[in-house]
Amino acid sequence: MKRIIFLFTVLVIPFITLLSQSNKKDSPMIEKSVFGKMKDGKEVYMYTLKNKPGAEAKIITYGATVVSITAPDRNGKYADVTLGYDNLEGYENGTGYLGALVGRYANRIAGAKFTLDGKTYLLSANEGKNQLHGGKTGFSKDLWKAEPIEGKAGPALKLTLVSPDGDQGYPGKVTLQVIYTLTNDNELRIDYKGTTDKTTILNPTHHSYFNLTGVFTNTILNHQVKIDADYYTPIDKESIPTGKIEKVEDTPLDFRKLTTIGSRINDNFEQLKLANGYDFNYVLNNYNGKVREVADVYEPTTGRYLQIFTDQPGLQFYTGNFLSETPVGKNGVAYKFRTGFAMEAEHYPNSPNEPEWPSVVLKPGQTYRQTTIYKFSTK
Ligand code: GLA
Repeated sequence: MKRIIFLFTVLVIPFITLLSQSNKKDSPMIEKSVFGKMKDGKEVYMYTLKNKPGAEAKIITYGATVVSITAPDRNGKYADVTLGYDNLEGYENGTGYLGALVGRYANRIAGAKFTLDGKTYLLSANEGKNQLHGGKTGFSKDLWKAEPIEGKAGPALKLTLVSPDGDQGYPGKVTLQVIYTLTNDNELRIDYKGTTDKTTILNPTHHSYFNLTGVFTNTILNHQVKIDADYYTPIDKESIPTGKIEKVEDTPLDFRKLTTIGSRINDNFEQLKLANGYDFNYVLNNYNGKVREVADVYEPTTGRYLQIFTDQPGLQFYTGNFLSETPVGKNGVAYKFRTGFAMEAEHYPNSPNEPEWPSVVLKPGQTYRQTTIYKFSTK
């Protein structure tokens, strides 16, 4: 008997342990399902990440899009806090980049062109004559390859996209890897890694819209926001930066102290009128390539609290001023004006045409990196 117990301990237990480790892809923390079929027939998968405290993030391979994230309120009740659609058609037809991974260049490029090493590149224009969020079929409309990984911090999904030379007019074949981790501290952590085979520009971002009430018939006007930025980049009537960098002080754009979004959104301030609300790039303080806390948002009725950390120089704070009721959102709710806000960590808009601003150029042999974290808790 002793011998059997001994053999069991020495041989069978380590074997089972080894087997379970080699089977990490089937871990119950990550589930895979079919989300839908693209217009061209390709299958789109959805991965559900579950962390130890009980939060969930659903991510699809179309546009490396986050379909939902759940976060607890002050009574421990979990609710979905990001806008999205119930089916793939919503994501294929939607124009608001809900939950998407945006690229190659997040935000706007004036005249959809830029010059690099003496050569001018003409990009696909999709907002008048300008480019917005990577062009007509940017990264948010591409099908990504996914691989689940069981990171130390929590379940994770690695998504990879190869964007061919000339995609949307951009030079170089770019390979971008994005790892979404739902950490056991209730953070959605996004790590980016990009390379190219020719000198190019790269500036991706993540475009979730949040509504911390968890009820998408509510607007986000009662949320309180703080952004660690003394300056912003003012815009013209096409939302292209004028090239100036101005102080937020004494303007309704000053969020250096926690302030209710709705309290000044209708102020008679030219920039707010041009953008139809908040839709501005904040020049974040303390930019030195390291991850630091740059913004936080508090929703007083539920107590949900969102902190944003990034290593990027800019943050686009957008209050859903162009949100459209079609396609209809999750659970049949049509998203009205200002039912979600976005906090997009990125370089300043139109940087390829503003040589004084932090560079977005990526050369062969270099690696583009970004880390941005959305951390959910309560207060
Ligand atoms: C960004 C832009 C907005 C708008 C949305 C998508 O936030 O700054 O102007 O285009 O994306 O609708």
